[in-house]
Formats: sequence, structure tokens, C-alpha cells
Amino acid sequence: MSAPAGSASPFRAVDIIRKKRDGDELSRAEIEYLVSGYTAGEIPDYQAAAWLMAGLLRGFTRAETTVLTDAMLRSGEVLDLSEFPAPKVDKHSTGGVGDKTSLVLAPLAAAGGLIVPMISGRGLGHTGGTLDKLESIPGFTVGLSTAEFRRVLAECGCAMIGQTAEIAPADRKFYALRDVTGTVESPYLICASIMSKKLAEGIDALVLDVKTGSGAFMKKEEDAVFLAELMVETGERMGKKVVAPITDMNQPLGRMVGNSLEVAECIAILRGEGPDDLRDLCLELAAWMFHLGGSAANLNEARSKAETLLKSGRAMETFRKMVELQGGDPDAIDDPQRLPQAKYSLDVTSPRAGYVTAIQCESIGTACVILGGGREKKEDSVDPAVGITLHKKVGDHIVAGEPLCSILYNSEALAIRAKDLIEESYRISNAPPAQKRPLVHRVIQGSGNKN
Ligand code: URA
Repeated sequence: MSAPAGSASPFRAVDIIRKKRDGDELSRAEIEYLVSGYTAGEIPDYQAAAWLMAGLLRGFTRAETTVLTDAMLRSGEVLDLSEFPAPKVDKHSTGGVGDKTSLVLAPLAAAGGLIVPMISGRGLGHTGGTLDKLESIPGFTVGLSTAEFRRVLAECGCAMIGQTAEIAPADRKFYALRDVTGTVESPYLICASIMSKKLAEGIDALVLDVKTGSGAFMKKEEDAVFLAELMVETGERMGKKVVAPITDMNQPLGRMVGNSLEVAECIAILRGEGPDDLRDLCLELAAWMFHLGGSAANLNEARSKAETLLKSGRAMETFRKMVELQGGDPDAIDDPQRLPQAKYSLDVTSPRAGYVTAIQCESIGTACVILGGGREKKEDSVDPAVGITLHKKVGDHIVAGEPLCSILYNSEALAIRAKDLIEESYRISNAPPAQKRPLVHRVIQGSGNKN
């Protein structure tokens, strides 16, 4: 990387800000100067913020996006997992409601012979976070050292942890600044943020579950496709195999929303039970992981492999082992009743008979946050037990007074706020919806891994 913002540097931050403000393409050296200078604390927040805003408004070229991702990746440690001969493959979702596939996919892919070094995040906005879900398992720790991470990977093939101080520190700083300067939404900055963290895991291949719909950050399909194409191309330019299914987030995935509830639903899937949409998406994403990892000749074979691993209980065994290795209570996996349970439950009933034709999915996620299942402010702690169980989803018939969903809560005042939001989010009509949206809208593939 080029010299940071010391006196010997040929650059000045103000010139790079001006250049981006005027819509010109930045050179590799200029981007590297900005990233290393900001990470080292030599470029102040106000200049980094001005540059981010210029980038959000003007956009970046594909080449700039790749250089930015690379500079952020190399701002910290890049794990070298070459001691593991098996292919190293991960999955990342852009975030949704009831979006819990990681807890099934990591053990499922590991049971099939892949190494899954998964570094995940916490809930963001109305969406849930893998780390918050895992921490609802009594004793489970997501804060492993790199040495412990390797040990868990060696023993069970997968490990699930949070971002450490060493991984992509530039992203940690930029992300915090973006959060308070209205610059989160840029697809180029999202791409660099996600890909720098994921590629620091030392993986060979990555499956990106790019969500679209009322519960996703990318509400419009074309925006999701744009981001997916950007991430696939950036990953490929950096020598990785990347594929990005665009998947539906117009209603919560599965029937459970909330941390321990979602863990319980994943355990059901791993036992061969649970809702069809969640199982189908897990199988689809696992199939892509096996396909990219080279452990199946084609997608059909990869899917059958995933089905067999679920049915045989091997994925479940791997999950139980990973939980134990990361300090979690394996009895809570054998008996999910031992996971944190909310004290009270309240039904939200339908005011009329008809069919559920839509669910405003972001509102369901926000209702869960209000209950305490996510954070309204950064410093909030999360209540692992609360959440929502959906009894009716899009296309279901309902009679007047029948429960649409149940709210599981610990504070009545919060439950009342959440109930109002949930009532407004269900749309009931006389006729069923004209068409059922597919779970996978389309798949964006790189040139190197077409099926
Ligand atoms: N998730 C990330 O990790 N980064 C972003 O910029 C947006 C979502």
C-alpha cells in the first residue's frame, strides 16, 4: 500500500476529495492513500466524510471499487487457512427478517467436507444478526481469538465468530462514519464493506444471498441486481469464485422472528422438520456452496448432497459439536425449550376473513426490535427471548378472529407498540394473491462459475 498521510506523501486528501466531487476516476495510489491515512488516524473524519459523500453522489468505477475493496481488506489481517486442504467457502446475506440460514448452512456445508470460516455481524436496523442469534444459546461465545477460531475449524469444519479488531479495521472506521453521515446506501461502499470483510476470511469462494423486497435494504429488484453484479465482479477480479442468488424478502423467512426463536427454528430444520421456505432456501444456498467448492459436478447433485446431509442428521451433529466447541450448552440444542423463553405471549388476530396478500416485512422486523430483540440505539442490549411467531403467511386463508401471529414478550408496554405495527403490516383481501413469488428471483453468476 502507498505511504500514509505523512509529510513524504505526494497526495493531499483535499485534492482527492475534489477529484471525486468532480466525477473523475481515482488512481490506485490515491485510494490506498485515503484508506491507509484514514485507518491510521492521519486523515480526519471530516475529510473522510466529505470523500464518502462525494463517492456516494458520483459513484465509483468497477476498477475503483475493486481497489477500494482491496485496500480495505489489506488494512488488517488476511487469514491464511492454507493448513486446511479442503475448499474454504462462506455465505453472506445482505440482511433480512427471519433470515437465519447461516446457522443451518455453516454446519451443513462443513458436514459435506467444506471449511466454513464464518465471520458474521449483529443486527442492523430492522434486520436480525447472526451473532445475536448465536448468543441466545447459553454460554456460546462469538469472540474467539484467531487461534481458537482455527481450532474449532480443525475440529468440526465450521466456526462462527464476530469481526475481530484485526479484520478489515478500515471498514470498522468507515462503517461507523457512514452510519452518521448518510453514506451507508452507496452500492459501491456496501460492496467494498462486505467484500473486504469476507475476503479477509481467507476463503476460496463465496455465496452472496442478496435480499430484495419490503424487508430488505434493497427494496427494488434492480438495486439488488446492481449490488449483486458489483459484488460478484469485484470478488472475481480478486480471484474468488462468487455467486449471488437474488432472494425474496417480501415476508419473513420461516415462521420465527427473534433470536432464540430463530435458533429453535434452525434446530428444527437440522432435524428434518421446520418450514418449507426456510429449508428450500438453505438447500439452494448449500447447493451453491458445494458447487463452488467443487464437491459436486452440478447444482442438482449438490442439492441432493445437501438433502442427504440434512436427512442423515450429520449437519445436526456438526452444529451441536460447533456449539459445544464455542462454549455453548449442547443440552439447549437437544432440547430447545432450554433456550431463553419470553414470559408472556399475545395473539394478533385477524379483523376479517380472507387471504393474506402481503406482509410489510420491514415492520415485522421493526416490531421485533421494539420488543427488545434488536437495538434501537447502538448501546442497547438485546433480549434473546422475545420475538414473533407467524401463524399466517402470504397466500394463507384466515377466518375473522383467528391469530395471524403471536408476540412473545417480556414488557407489556413494548408488546403494545409492536402489536400496532404488526396489525398494520398484514394485508387481508377477499381473493388470494394472483401469483406466488419465487423464493429465488434469479442468480447472478460470475463468468468463471456458470452452472
Ligand atoms: N453490511 C455491511 O457489512 N456493510 C455495509 O455497508 C452494509 C451492510
